Amino acid sequence: MSIVAGKRIVLGVGGSIANYKVIELARQLTVAGALVDVVMTEEATRFVTPLTFQSLTYRPVYTEMWSTLENAAAHVKLGEEADVVLVVPATAHTLASIAHGLADTMILTTILATRAPVMLVPAMNVNMWQNVATQENVALLRRRGLHVLEPDEGMLASGITGRGRLPEIERIEGELRALLGRSSGRLAGRKVVVTAGGTHEPIDPVRFIGNRASGHMGYAIAAAARDEGARVILISGPAALQPPMAVEVVRVETAQQMHDAVHEHVVDADLLVMNAAVADYRPAQAVDHKLKKTQEQLTIGLERTPDILQSLVDIKGPIKVGFAAETNDLLAYAADKLKRKNLDLIVANDAVGSIGQPDIEITLLDVDGRHTTLPRQAKALIAEQLLEHVLQRWPDRLGRTDAPNSTPSTRFQED
Ligand code: CTP
Repeated sequence: MSIVAGKRIVLGVGGSIANYKVIELARQLTVAGALVDVVMTEEATRFVTPLTFQSLTYRPVYTEMWSTLENAAAHVKLGEEADVVLVVPATAHTLASIAHGLADTMILTTILATRAPVMLVPAMNVNMWQNVATQENVALLRRRGLHVLEPDEGMLASGITGRGRLPEIERIEGELRALLGRSSGRLAGRKVVVTAGGTHEPIDPVRFIGNRASGHMGYAIAAAARDEGARVILISGPAALQPPMAVEVVRVETAQQMHDAVHEHVVDADLLVMNAAVADYRPAQAVDHKLKKTQEQLTIGLERTPDILQSLVDIKGPIKVGFAAETNDLLAYAADKLKRKNLDLIVANDAVGSIGQPDIEITLLDVDGRHTTLPRQAKALIAEQLLEHVLQRWPDRLGRTDAPNSTPSTRFQED
């Protein structure tokens, strides 16, 4: 199940032209199953009406701190009940007010009263962002454990270009999922390495040998592990997809580069998922100039690439999950690879019905001979179930490294 499902998210909305993007964020979080309580500043209501948010979240929207009895009770209650408090956009004034503990609006009292993680998403004029006053407030907030996103660079509402733009909604949602994962996910404190996509083996500077892998499956696994709070290293071959936000992406092209990247990152990993469709052969001699059409027939000599999983047979630390995409004798080939590559689990799937497709059916084969088939579904759902299977199967080798919600916070002085 998605990390945001059933979560209480307080979404503080400041006054900005970027508010039209925040509407979409509130909608997406609601669709993902979150209970989104929107709190708007007076200025925010000039750009977008409370009714817009109310219609999309199906929940009351809070505006003035003392205007109704309900709001009077909510000014601390919302913060106490929240799983996370998010402020989008956080203006320079809001950042300064939070940094100095002001409490004259509903969003400020909520933040002062909550023990939940807080994420602030600034958006402002470039000079306001770069002003030492703002930067020192941001540094102070970060020292206290609040999560402040860097604004994007680009064209600002004032017409000038610089850092200060509200990040894209996908980035805000990705960062929020990672933050929720670290506070209540089951892989907090763990490191997960995922490989994805196919590799390109150069023939000459403009041509390569590749395959049809799209990266969808590996990217979905990386997103699912991030949502559970893991630090995720996504080693990706060339892919046209946008990688999930809040994961560390290492881009590679060839099997050799993927081999080197996996070796670099796997050392202290808790889980390795080798989803990539790594080329088995590469041109023995990549030429450094574009091949010309001088012959009727062209023969390109191929040599084996390194087998990455095979090269890790003696590594005992991480749980190792491989994939076997086959066109025939699926389970027999998969079982052979599981044994030969010394894996903990192999994911068997029909190559034709899965590579480059939006959905997939898989069979999980365990070291002890257990089979589990997951019926055809969207790759994002399969990724969550695959991770669930791994979490259930090896609770002693995975699981968070501390208790949920015990993220150390410097925000409170205990008696
Ligand atoms: N794999 C790897 N390095 C390679 C080739 C594959 O680590 N050079 C990994 C894949 O990422 C996958 C698993 O090994 O997790 C099985 O890949 P597959 O291509 O199905 O198997 P091969 O070992 O290449 O065997 P064959 O080509 O004979 O099917």
